[in-house]
Amino acid sequence: MMEHHWSRREFLRFMGRTMGATALTYPGLVFPVARGSSAMADFHPITPTSADEVVLADGLEYHILVSWMDRINGAGERFGFNNDYTAFFSIGGNPHDGLLWVNHEEVFSGYFLSPDDPQEKTMEHIEQEVLEVGGSIIRINKRDGHWRLVQDDQYNRRINASTRIPIISEQPVHGAREAVGTLGNCAGGFTPWKTVLTCEENFNLFLGDVTFVSGTRVHEKDSYLGWERYLDHPPEHYGWVVEIDPFTGAAKKLTALGRFAHEGATVTQAKDGRPVVYMSDDKIDECIYKFVAAEPGSLARGTLYVAATDTGRWLPLDVVRDPRLKEVFGSQTELLVRTREAAKLVGGSPQDRPEDIEIDPQSGAVLIALTKHPERPFGSILKLAEKDNDPSAEEFTASTFLAGGHESGFACPDNLVFDPQGNLWICTDIYDLNQPPYHPFKNNGLFYLPMSGRHAGIPRQVASAPSGAELTGPTFSPDGRSLFLSVQHPGENSTSPDTPSSHWPDGGDSLPRPSVIYVSGPLLDELTAV
Ligand code: FEO
Ligand code: CA
Ligand code: CA
Repeated sequence: MMEHHWSRREFLRFMGRTMGATALTYPGLVFPVARGSSAMADFHPITPTSADEVVLADGLEYHILVSWMDRINGAGERFGFNNDYTAFFSIGGNPHDGLLWVNHEEVFSGYFLSPDDPQEKTMEHIEQEVLEVGGSIIRINKRDGHWRLVQDDQYNRRINASTRIPIISEQPVHGAREAVGTLGNCAGGFTPWKTVLTCEENFNLFLGDVTFVSGTRVHEKDSYLGWERYLDHPPEHYGWVVEIDPFTGAAKKLTALGRFAHEGATVTQAKDGRPVVYMSDDKIDECIYKFVAAEPGSLARGTLYVAATDTGRWLPLDVVRDPRLKEVFGSQTELLVRTREAAKLVGGSPQDRPEDIEIDPQSGAVLIALTKHPERPFGSILKLAEKDNDPSAEEFTASTFLAGGHESGFACPDNLVFDPQGNLWICTDIYDLNQPPYHPFKNNGLFYLPMSGRHAGIPRQVASAPSGAELTGPTFSPDGRSLFLSVQHPGENSTSPDTPSSHWPDGGDSLPRPSVIYVSGPLLDELTAV
């Protein structure tokens, strides 16, 4: 019997993360942070490259863990498309054996699966696409120094866009308490009680979206993928944070955390033990949010705030507390379905496409990747410092932590992760690869940013992605000796399936396959192992 609830001791250690303790936590495991290491001082970063390969700094190597289409269980379920966020849940406290949750975000490179033009798609095309998104739960373990997928393990399962998922809300959402499937699963987070939070981001690309004009609901049926031509699923059932127990597959949509293009959901704890979740809405001029749960151990109820970075205040989105909101929304559920409108109404600050969020384990600062804006094309990382370092505070100070550009050597920061030594790793997501003004940066990359020592604050590139790809979902193994990394959408910039811009990872004339890799080697041991 696999234990998957935190012991009291583990739970208290998780709390230490926001109480100034020098500790980093993973579900089920805690490590002291090794400080002051200067071993990284002399490593040589790579230079930007357009190579159709995962190019790594000397001292690093990579291996493929699992790829699109790989069979994962005896029922014949397969690993989905465009793998993104990953989270590792150790089994029995063993750092070399556990479950890896993997998001499958979208089928943007649609012509690898079905026609690019939604008008040309049949129901069969849509049925296949439905299976490609959502997430995978796979058992992985490390033997003889190498990680491998345990094919056909009892835990291996898919959650996809046909899985029935309860909606946790005060009122029914568009008349229902259950949604069909999850989709647009971008980044995410994990809770102290060993569940994963998978975030539904660009749901409008699948089914369109709804607008409410003078109380009238209008469903815009012109989505990129055209699922609404065959599937009668209301857009209100998507755009949520979905909580999943990786050990049972039990899933639920958490409406209290709001509905928007959810990038990720980074969980910490308030001084009184209540979970606090930081989130962002990845759209130009949309906002940063925070959810403070009403009680420990659950995200079903609590207060949703939007950040006003101009005044340093978290503004509650509560239909009972705020008459301005009461005037527009008939209930809190209605407000949550239309979170963006509520955020703008109270004065939430527009941001430069906020993406991933991580909390500095040393300082407690909240770091938010602002990937780009037409007027600030290289993006930046924003730093929020909560008043009294209390995640449940209603006041904070905001400042730029690091600006992208030619001087710093990176552009369009997206996914972030702190390693077990407390240093920051930054994945980039340049869409217009190798085109002005991004051409000097070449392919997307992974950068290492020391938080202390004489190289503090200077990013250095350690990896480069294959053509058209983005490196996403970075997760360190609990011992810091392996970095799980998604290679997402290789070949996305192809102009035709007959001439893919990438043949990674199989080479030759093959079509590219999104895959999860793990990076290891002596350099990673120096930089991140504990
Ligand atoms: Fe799915 Fe905002 O990246
Ligand atoms: Ca992202
Ligand atoms: Ca992205």
